Amino acid sequence: MKHSILVARAIFPAVLDRLREHFDVESNDADALWSAAELIRRLQGKQGLFATGERIDAALLDACPQLRAVCIMAVGYNNVDVDACTARGVVVTNTPDVLTETTADFGFALVLAAARRMTEGEHFLRRGAWRMWRYDMLTGCDVHGTTLGVLGMGRIGQAIAKRGAHGFGMKVIYHNRSRLDAAIEDGLGARYVDKETLLRETDHLVLVLPYSAASHHAVGAAELALMKPGATLTNIARGGIVDDAALAAALREGRLAAAGLDVFEGEPQVHPDLLALSNVVLTPHIASATVATRQAMADLAADNLIAALGCGPNAGRPPTPVNPGVLAKR
Ligand code: GLV
Repeated sequence: MKHSILVARAIFPAVLDRLREHFDVESNDADALWSAAELIRRLQGKQGLFATGERIDAALLDACPQLRAVCIMAVGYNNVDVDACTARGVVVTNTPDVLTETTADFGFALVLAAARRMTEGEHFLRRGAWRMWRYDMLTGCDVHGTTLGVLGMGRIGQAIAKRGAHGFGMKVIYHNRSRLDAAIEDGLGARYVDKETLLRETDHLVLVLPYSAASHHAVGAAELALMKPGATLTNIARGGIVDDAALAAALREGRLAAAGLDVFEGEPQVHPDLLALSNVVLTPHIASATVATRQAMADLAADNLIAALGCGPNAGRPPTPVNPGVLAKR
C-alpha cells in the first residue's frame, strides 16, 4: 500500500508528479498558510511531510503519531524540534549544498548593495531627485581591499570568504564554533579570530550562522558597539541572530554605515525602525531564490522523502538526513 504524504506549500508541478509516483499526495496548490491546528488536521494518517518553514514541535508530533519523515526544502531547520523528532523515530532531512553558491552570491550582492548604496541610489533616481553630478552624491564605502568578517564559517560562510578573498582582494577574518583546518583556511585566505576581534576589525560583517537559542541576538547592542564606525553588516542567516531594534539604532545614529538584510525577526513583518531608514537594503528572504537552485532544493527534498519512506533507488537512505541515527534504528 502506498504511503500518504502532505506537501505543505505550493511546489513545482513536476516535483508533485514525481512524489505521486510513490505516494498518495495531498498538496497545497493554492499555497494557503495553514495554522498549526490545520497542519495537524491535514497530517492525520500521513507518514511524510514535505515542508518549508512550518513549525514542527513535540505537540505536532504527538498529535500525528504515524508521521515518519519530515523533509524540509531549506538548509536551515530551526523551525523543527529535531530532538523531539529523533525521540519519536521521525527522520528529518534538509537541503544543504545545492544552495551554497547561489546564497553566497546573494550575500555578496547585499554587501555590495549596502556599501555602495545601490537601492538608495535607485530610489533617489526614481523619485526624480537626480539633477546633476555632485562630488559627494551617494558616496559609499569601498569593498575591495577591505576586511571581510564572516560570523559562522560553514559551507555558505566559506563560499562568501572565497568571493571576498579571491574576487575582491579582501582580507578575510572569521569566527566560528570550531576552527577550520589550516589547509582550508589557507585555501580561503581566511584567519580565525575570537568574536570580539572579528567585530572590532571587520569593515564588512556577514552573518551566516545557524539560528538556535545559543545564537539568538548573537549581534545585539553590545556587539554593535564594538564594530568599527562606518562598517556594514549583512545578515543572510536567520532573523533573530541580530537584534533588529539595536541594529536600526546603530544605523540611524550613523555608527554603522549600512546594512543588507534578507532575514528578519518575526518575518514577514519587518521592524518599523528598519523600514524608516534609507541606509539598509531590505530583501524578502530570497538568498536561495534562483530558478535552478529552487528546483534543485525541491528535487533534493523529494529525493529525501521518497527514500526516507522506503521507496525509490535509495530506499531507506535519504541523501541528506539531519538525524541519521533514526535511520540506523529502523
Ligand atoms: C533558507 O533560508 C534556507 O534555510 O534554505
